[in-house]
Amino acid sequence: MGLGFGLNLLLLAMVATNLLSFYHLLSISTTSPTTPSDHPSPPVPDHLLRQLSTIRATINHLTRLHPLSPPSTTTSPSSKSPPSDLLLHSLLLPIATACHDHPDLLHRFMNYTPFSPCPSLPPSLPESLILRGCHPLPRRRCFSRTPPSSPPSLPSDPFPSTLPDSSVLWSSYDSSSSSCKSFSCLNPSLGFDMRSESYRFLKSSDLDLSVPQFLKIAAGLSSPIRLGLDVGGGTGTFAAQMKRLGNATVVSTTMNLGAPYSEAVAVRGLVPLHVPLQQRFPVADGTMDLVRCGHAVNRWIPVPALEFLMYDADRLLRGGGFLWIDHFFCKGGDLEKVYAPMIGRLGYKKLKWASANKTDASGLKNGDVYLTALLQKPALK
Ligand SMILES: *[C@@H]1O[C@H](CO)[C@@H](O)[C@H](O)[C@H]1NC(C)=O
Ligand SMILES: *[C@@H]1O[C@H](CO)[C@@H](O)[C@H](O)[C@H]1NC(C)=O
Repeated sequence: MGLGFGLNLLLLAMVATNLLSFYHLLSISTTSPTTPSDHPSPPVPDHLLRQLSTIRATINHLTRLHPLSPPSTTTSPSSKSPPSDLLLHSLLLPIATACHDHPDLLHRFMNYTPFSPCPSLPPSLPESLILRGCHPLPRRRCFSRTPPSSPPSLPSDPFPSTLPDSSVLWSSYDSSSSSCKSFSCLNPSLGFDMRSESYRFLKSSDLDLSVPQFLKIAAGLSSPIRLGLDVGGGTGTFAAQMKRLGNATVVSTTMNLGAPYSEAVAVRGLVPLHVPLQQRFPVADGTMDLVRCGHAVNRWIPVPALEFLMYDADRLLRGGGFLWIDHFFCKGGDLEKVYAPMIGRLGYKKLKWASANKTDASGLKNGDVYLTALLQKPALK
């Protein structure tokens, strides 16, 4: 049906467009120019409206996602067919195209009993879907499991001495390598040790822009920092320092990837935005004073995807807002060849631009370099 249907659609669209322009010409020539406000243009004839809505429906039909087969209400599903739940919910809700490219994962995610507790799934399952482009995940009508008790006290300081273990459903993390069921046994280098985290983003060097230094630069430019987005925010330490030192509200994008990063961010009184890097950030245009890209943003992201990410950051930023590229790394030669021109095309003012060899084992092996840059979006764009 594809080609024939497409052709029909095209013909229909052409016919309708012509009819519509003809109609517009008619209405222009018959409307008296002297009384524009007294005579609103005559209503569009019904047949045109009907044709337009047919076109709209056809386009919707063509672009809408189709489940594997239409749900059958009369015959009982065979054991091979997907559960009717999956089909029902696929039809009810708009589902991202990529979800249907992974029917096994989608099936597992959507296989639940409505109005009951959601089945226990490893957190890696929904994230596997999200990372494959199935984002946002379809909604489900089941009760998500929550930790048995709320934390004993909610810290107002985003650097509490310990993160309360009761804020995590540790059984969800069973599949991760160890049997660790406490923040205290997670690898401290992952950002769960609050004591060492409290020193991060305070030191400045050629390659390290510190939070106090950044706040000073912004203040010097009379550019207030109230809101920010931290892309790849880990356990939220950047947002925590911005809150502590600048009273700023920074939301952090998080993925759990085997450890309770989002829970850690939340228990610190910060906002974990559970979104992947490769899709439009769910933040309104021109609203952010700062977008920071941490080390999750690096050469592992394919160049075109990275370019889209940069332009999405630009979309979020207000005029005069800041893009902070923090320890981005790539192959030595690519910085000048690929990434500097890409960043340059944004037309931002360079307030800091520092690069250096990445001297850890993998950096030396790959000939990687780091870039730390602070860029300001032009006021008028
Ligand atoms: C943050 O806000 C508090 C309360 O309004 C104020 O006392 C403090 O000076 C502010 N800190 C900064 C760095 O602006
Ligand atoms: C960085 O590494 C390159 C080769 O990988 C070397 O030629 C260069 O001298 C290094 N730069 C510094 C500042 O160490």
